[in-house]
Amino acid sequence: LGSGNMNSEGHLEIGDVDTVDLAKEFGTPLYVYDVAKIREQATAYLSTFKKRNVTAKVAYASKAFSCIAMVQLMQQEGLHLDVVSGGELFTALQAGFPATHIHFHGNNKSIEELTAAVEEGVGSIVVDNFYELDCLKSIGESLNRVIPIQLRITPGIEAHTHEYILTGQEDSKFGFDLISKQADQALHEALSSSYIDMMGIHCHIGSQIFESDGFVMAIRKIFDLLEDWSESFGYEARVVNLGGGFGIAYTTNDKKISIEEMMNVVVDEVQDQVAEKSLAMPEIWIEPGRSIVGEAGTTLYTVGSEKRIPGVRNYLAVDGGMTDNLRPALYQAKYEAVIANRLSQKNTQTVSIAGKCCESGDMLIQEVSLPKTSQGDILAMFCTGAYGYSMANNYNRLPRPAVVFVEEGEAQLVVERETYRDLVHLDRPLKKTVVTSF
Ligand code: LLP
Repeated sequence: LGSGNMNSEGHLEIGDVDTVDLAKEFGTPLYVYDVAKIREQATAYLSTFKKRNVTAKVAYASKAFSCIAMVQLMQQEGLHLDVVSGGELFTALQAGFPATHIHFHGNNKSIEELTAAVEEGVGSIVVDNFYELDCLKSIGESLNRVIPIQLRITPGIEAHTHEYILTGQEDSKFGFDLISKQADQALHEALSSSYIDMMGIHCHIGSQIFESDGFVMAIRKIFDLLEDWSESFGYEARVVNLGGGFGIAYTTNDKKISIEEMMNVVVDEVQDQVAEKSLAMPEIWIEPGRSIVGEAGTTLYTVGSEKRIPGVRNYLAVDGGMTDNLRPALYQAKYEAVIANRLSQKNTQTVSIAGKCCESGDMLIQEVSLPKTSQGDILAMFCTGAYGYSMANNYNRLPRPAVVFVEEGEAQLVVERETYRDLVHLDRPLKKTVVTSF
């Protein structure tokens, strides 16, 4: 599960670096990323498409974890980048990522964000609604630029049988729906503007998906629409973007998906549809986030207080919590952990891992079996690489942790730990001092 091995001292080692040493050097809580694992995941996507000899683009969904070094790593690996805000775009550009390899998402992009994206020459804008289409037409006109776009559709797939974080169903804030023919109207508007280059179609059916059926259904819906668009508008898509959402195993009980198998199913279905409907083969684009970084990330915490309620529960508290990993509190997400400095010891107690925030719901793991611990031990929680740092917050004014990349025995600090000074950096004191006497 996740990343890591035991070294000769019985410590957890990631990327050939002892995590106990990392905790000493960089402090805790600490996000540790196994760079080799990230590279491996990126390669799994790219090599499958290459083997199948189809033109494809794999864009890393940077919402899963974005910082300058991460974006640079994605560039090294030959991935494109998906951004969803001016902030993610800024980070990518600061990292030197080529704008033409970025595509821009979001259901309410501001005019400022859209203008910046067009001025920077972003490779494609995934248009979500009519308001945005109008904004882009006028931005194109005023900057005299032809703006490459994809239209995001909601394919109307309700995957009741799986634990999807759904976005593809009809009742969704995202995209143009098919039932009320919004997608046709959007295509009509896009084709009638000389400032819009209609590259193709996008859909994202949800996140943490383990079965390929959802993707197959989405592909069929897309190609039904494309067949229709070919007949009614004479339109042929150059790009079919299937979004992200490929699941990862957070616990040993979770299923593991094979990226290769999943991508092969996708390619097969696209090829079948193209043949069946006699359409031109488009480029296949995907935008995975979680499956690139999730398993590569491990969070290190220091064990602090304990509370034992005989016959009820043993609480073991660590120095982070819902501030660095919101997922257990928000989604009841499950994780597994070990005591990084006691890997060779037997698990002899069942404890629940509590965060340090002033909130009973701030529990990181309910009931995990661990060795007997003492204060100062290092708890390592696995598979925290996606939507951990990116959803971190300063609740209770806790500073955000540092992020370290490890690879081939070397550790590199890629995001510094926030300081108390950083926390008050944007605060401004009250203007008027009123002295109240009682
Ligand atoms: N493309 C679009 C349009 C998306 O909305 C998302 C995720 C992705 C790609 C990447 O999906 P991934 O491959 O990472 O599953 N905070 C939640 C996940 C929210 C996902 C939002 N959209 C979590 O922690 O589980």
